[in-house]
Amino acid sequence: MRKNIVAGNWKMNNDLSASKKLAKQVVKKVKKAKLKGTKVIIAPTFVNLESVAKATKKSKVSVAAQNMHFEESGAFTGEVSAKMLKSVGVKTVILGHSERREYFGETDELLAKKVDAALANKMKVIFCFGEVLADRKSNKHEKVVESQIKNALFHLEASAFQNIVLAYEPVWAIGTGETASPEQAQDMHAFIRKTLSDKYGNDVADEVSILYGGSVKPANAEEIFSKPDVDGGLIGGAALNADDFFAIVNAF
Ligand code: 13P
Repeated sequence: MRKNIVAGNWKMNNDLSASKKLAKQVVKKVKKAKLKGTKVIIAPTFVNLESVAKATKKSKVSVAAQNMHFEESGAFTGEVSAKMLKSVGVKTVILGHSERREYFGETDELLAKKVDAALANKMKVIFCFGEVLADRKSNKHEKVVESQIKNALFHLEASAFQNIVLAYEPVWAIGTGETASPEQAQDMHAFIRKTLSDKYGNDVADEVSILYGGSVKPANAEEIFSKPDVDGGLIGGAALNADDFFAIVNAF
């Protein structure tokens, strides 16, 4: 059975003390709650990963990095490798976020290498993709998403998908307050699952968790998560407030 997951992408927010404080608040709330198997992940910036990993140790909250380089070490100024992440207790990485694609020129080809490096290091990957507004308006959203998934992931063996979570994040819904409707999310998630099934078969497609991201808030989470192919959310803005984030976790 695929897992329900709520992950908070803190992006470039929260200094050390704010990160520790928020992590501790989330841990406390998760500990108190009786979650029905929902997995909770938080993703602080690189410099705060070690502290947040410590703050969440022995809890049910996992920590993810927001990015990673595909090489193990060497002359790559400013970059961080999978081994380095693992050395501070981080076993999950978000790859392919639209902000990485848009502002840092990350391509499907580069992302394929990052995915390979993460999996080779036995890390879990939350792989993000999604169309821009123009694609949606010209009805190309399915084609765009299909090619993002194929180009970055379809060289993998079926077994690799045990360690991959997909996150559909329509770019027009990120940080805009405009959410895909629950029906739009469901339609796309069903399409993504079919794309996986066509390549790898139903068994693989049924087991992969597909998260929705883009202006998920306490007020809309329950309806979005109620859709059969939506297995949780990747949360930006609302993940910066423990009450809001936890209300979304609790929406399952
Ligand atoms: P918002 O929830 O702020 O729209 O951000 C979504 C996102 O980009 C998560 O990765």
